[in-house]
Amino acid sequence: MSNYHIKHLEEYYQVYRKSIREPESFWEEIAEEHFLWRKKWDKVLDWDFSKPEVKWFEGAKLNITENCIDRHLATRGDKTAIIFEPNNPDDEAEHISYRQLYERVNQFANVLKSKGVKKGDRVCIYVPMIPELAIATLACARIGAIHSVVFAGFSSKALSTRINDCDCKMVITADGSYRGAKTIDLKGIVDEALESCSGVENVLVAKRINSGISMKEGRDFWLQPLLDSASKEGNAEVMDAEDPLFILYTSGSTGKPKGMVHSSAGYMVYTAYTFKNVFQYKENDVYWCTADVGWITGHSYIIYGPLANGATTVMFEGVPSYPDFGRFWEIVEKYKVNQFYTAPTAIRALAKQGTKLVEKYDLSSLKVLGSVGEPINEEAWHWYNDNIGKKKSPIVDTWWQTETGGIMITPIPYVTPTKPTYATLPFIGIQPALMGENGNELKGNQVDGRLCIKFPWPSMARTIWGNHQRYKETYFSAFDNMYFTGDGAFRDEVGYYRITGRVDDVIIVSGHNLGTAPIEDAINEHPAVAESAIVGFPHDIKGSALYGYVTLKDAGESRNHENLSKEINQLIADRIGPIAKLDKIQFTEGLPKTRSGKIMRRILRKIAHNEMDNLGDISTLLNPEVVQSIIDNKL
Ligand code: WT7
Repeated sequence: MSNYHIKHLEEYYQVYRKSIREPESFWEEIAEEHFLWRKKWDKVLDWDFSKPEVKWFEGAKLNITENCIDRHLATRGDKTAIIFEPNNPDDEAEHISYRQLYERVNQFANVLKSKGVKKGDRVCIYVPMIPELAIATLACARIGAIHSVVFAGFSSKALSTRINDCDCKMVITADGSYRGAKTIDLKGIVDEALESCSGVENVLVAKRINSGISMKEGRDFWLQPLLDSASKEGNAEVMDAEDPLFILYTSGSTGKPKGMVHSSAGYMVYTAYTFKNVFQYKENDVYWCTADVGWITGHSYIIYGPLANGATTVMFEGVPSYPDFGRFWEIVEKYKVNQFYTAPTAIRALAKQGTKLVEKYDLSSLKVLGSVGEPINEEAWHWYNDNIGKKKSPIVDTWWQTETGGIMITPIPYVTPTKPTYATLPFIGIQPALMGENGNELKGNQVDGRLCIKFPWPSMARTIWGNHQRYKETYFSAFDNMYFTGDGAFRDEVGYYRITGRVDDVIIVSGHNLGTAPIEDAINEHPAVAESAIVGFPHDIKGSALYGYVTLKDAGESRNHENLSKEINQLIADRIGPIAKLDKIQFTEGLPKTRSGKIMRRILRKIAHNEMDNLGDISTLLNPEVVQSIIDNKL
């Protein structure tokens, strides 16, 4: 018997050791006993980090949707797979059983096929958090089309960049979306994006807000009539283990977004196995992850991981503040949620509201609380632990990335003793290493270094779409034979890991990964701007917020700085999305530069952090005099 479900600390250590000593036979057993294969693999693992190349379960044939849906029909056909909770609490929720999911995914898959989508084609999914989002995603997987879900809060420019980068031939969207009391004109955004996407042949539109939108003859189709006339039966395409399952974009510190490519078999095995253990999911539990499917958290832990375990997973369309800040707790009570997974930024926003709206609801169903996306600070950890978990539900602070596909460092609840702000121990099969600046591995405990992973795990991204060289440079070049995460971490006296934050030019704002370069590019498009630099600074709800230093072309610019700031933020919202707007914009005479002309972000970061007395030696700068004036005018 394989160790699919870990229940004690001793067992964790024993299984962990086995997974490191004999990774191939370990993962082979898990794969063999808990999944449905059309054909077994010829080889469990083939890898070479210098190329880099990683293959898991090569030669195996499968379809992930048969694992997430079909195989549950006999035993869980009437069990609820997805609970859809709409934005407006007065609207009716939807409970989709495994059998209904099977039928709806088949119908959708048949519609895709009828519109000419074939195995290997890329399909962009730009849909709000409604059932069609999950169903479209699974339908692509069912026919072997590669889905590229783009978070439906991204701007038309961000959308078109992503559509073109991987040559999507179809876009699936909705007429609009609800966000609390507001609506967003999604179809309008798609139309604008498609002005620069010549490869898109068809747009399928789900009806959500019933707004009057324009449909382009021959290109755009309402989804529902097509679904209604499609068959509820259909065979899943047989896929190779290493066939790409999806592309998901993540920002890098430079250049355009990186389309991380995830493959089928390894991703399935690892997300399912982590889901089972990290949430200690038991049959009949109700699990809720508040993320959007547009992020990796939603892919792995709203859709694939839970469904592969035959779980009941909640999809919530709305926001934590609508109609009031009690909404999350109302939903927990309504569905008797057992596992609740959210982000520190949401916890901080809710904590700020006090506990009145928490006490109104019965949260006694909760057994496990999760956190993901950024370091959780001590205060938020305690608030979550005391008021939501009532000190009874362990908090799993799960560290991972879009690139890792699944949770990498995490406590296992009721197994690993937790410690505030610590993601604690590596999950089964994960071999972290902390590296010093000179490329040496820091052994032993109580060390601080750059977090790397020494050995492949099944759900790691295999490449960046269309740019393997960039994949190699970004993740496998900083340290020999290691995957470099971009994060710093500390290992304490018992071997627990605490993630200390990014060590590159990526800033995590409200749990969203934002590269500084694309934001600076957007600002620099403003005709009055000469140059700009973005840094992060601590923010009590967002974790980090963005501070922009902007130099104008004409120092005597007569225009009102307030208006300029608004225009700059509007440009950022247009180019990237509202999530990348700056909290503070300081107009500067110049930016501190090295003699070779590189902007010294380190100094700007210190100023934004109010660490003025700790700037280090600035005399070697090209223009040390600007530093004082930046300090004097700090916001
Ligand atoms: C970056 C990855 C993984 C899904 C959501 C984010 C930061 C993530 C934690 C955590 C400290 C965390 C890291 C990581 N991060 N989880 N529990 N503690 N930091 O995915 O957008 O790819 O961002 O988020 O800096 O590198 P992502």
